Amino acid sequence: MPRPTQTATDLTPLDLFEAIAELKRELNAIVLAHYYQEPDIQDIADYIGDSLGLSRQAAETDADVIVFAGVHFMAETAKILNPDKLVLVPDLEAGCSLADSCPPQEFAAFKAAHPNCVVVSYINCTAEIKAMSDIICTSSNAVRIVEQIPAERPIIFAPDRNLGRYVMQQTGRDLVLWEGSCIVHETFSEKKLIQLKLEHPNAEVLAHPECEVPLLRLADYIGSTTALLDYCQTSQAPAFIVATEPGIIHQMEKRVLHKQFIPAPPTDDTCNCNECPYMRLNTLEKLYWCMKNRSPEVDVPAEIRVQALRPIQRMFEMSV
Ligand code: 13P
Ligand code: SF4
Repeated sequence: MPRPTQTATDLTPLDLFEAIAELKRELNAIVLAHYYQEPDIQDIADYIGDSLGLSRQAAETDADVIVFAGVHFMAETAKILNPDKLVLVPDLEAGCSLADSCPPQEFAAFKAAHPNCVVVSYINCTAEIKAMSDIICTSSNAVRIVEQIPAERPIIFAPDRNLGRYVMQQTGRDLVLWEGSCIVHETFSEKKLIQLKLEHPNAEVLAHPECEVPLLRLADYIGSTTALLDYCQTSQAPAFIVATEPGIIHQMEKRVLHKQFIPAPPTDDTCNCNECPYMRLNTLEKLYWCMKNRSPEVDVPAEIRVQALRPIQRMFEMSV
C-alpha cells in the first residue's frame, strides 16, 4: 500500500527549492514537469514540456529516479519506458478526466465491435488502454501519425473526440471516435471568447486541439502546449488569448516579455474551471515529500507494461 501523501511542512518556498535540489543530487533524480503545473514546480523542474517531450525525456534519461510532476498517465508512461527505475509522483490522486472516460472493459468491447481497425490512442489514457492500442499519439504528432497509416485501413481514435475530430478535419480521414473528452478544454465559452476578441482586436487566439470545434474555429493557431509556446515566440501579435490550461502562461510570460497573455474564460464565472483540478493537486510541498519519502511511486503490472511499450515505441518511430 502506498503511504498517504504528506503535505504539511514548515519549510518556506526557498527552503523547499534548496531541499529539493539536495534530494535531486542524493537520489540522482530528474524532475519532469508539465506546463500545467504551478509556477514553482515549473521553476524547479529539470525539464518542462508537452506530453511528447516529457515521454522522450523519460525514455532518454540516465537518472535513477524520475519524479513526475504531471498526472498519473504521464508517470505511468515513464514507468512503462523505465521498468527498473523508481517513478515518483507528488500526488497519486492526480488523474485525468479524459483517461477516466475510457474504461478498459468498455474499450475492449468497442474494439471488438470494430474489427480490422488500427487503434490509435491519445497518450492521455491508462496503461490498460495503451496495452490495447497499436500506436500511441500526442496532440503534437496525432495528425502526422494518422497520415502515415495506409488509406485503406480503418482507424479507431481514442479517447478524445475533440482531438479526433480535429485530426479528421486535418487529414480528411474518417476515424471511428471514442466519445471521451477533457473537462478543462470543454469548459471554455464560445460566447465569452467572441466578446474577448472584440475587446482585444489585436490579440491572436491560441487553442489546444482538445477544445471543442466551435472554439477551434475561432483560433488563429491550434497546437500542443509546446507548439503554442513556440508560436507565441515567433508571432508579431502584441497579445494572445490562451485557450488551454492557464499554467502554460507562466512559461509564455517568461519567454516572451512585454506581451499580454489572457486566459480564455470558462463558461462558469464562479469557478476556476479552466485550471486542471488534477494537475493542480501537485504542490511544491508534495513534490518535496515524495522525494524525501521515496513515495508515492507509480507501478504498472508487468503484463500490461510489456504490451503498452510497443505502441509507445511505434509513436517514437513514427514521429522522427
Ligand atoms: P500536451 O501538453 O501534450 O499538448 O497535452 C495537454 C494535456 O492535456 C495534458 O494533459
Ligand atoms: Fe486530463 Fe484535461 Fe487535465 Fe489534461 S487538462 S490532465 S486532459 S483533465
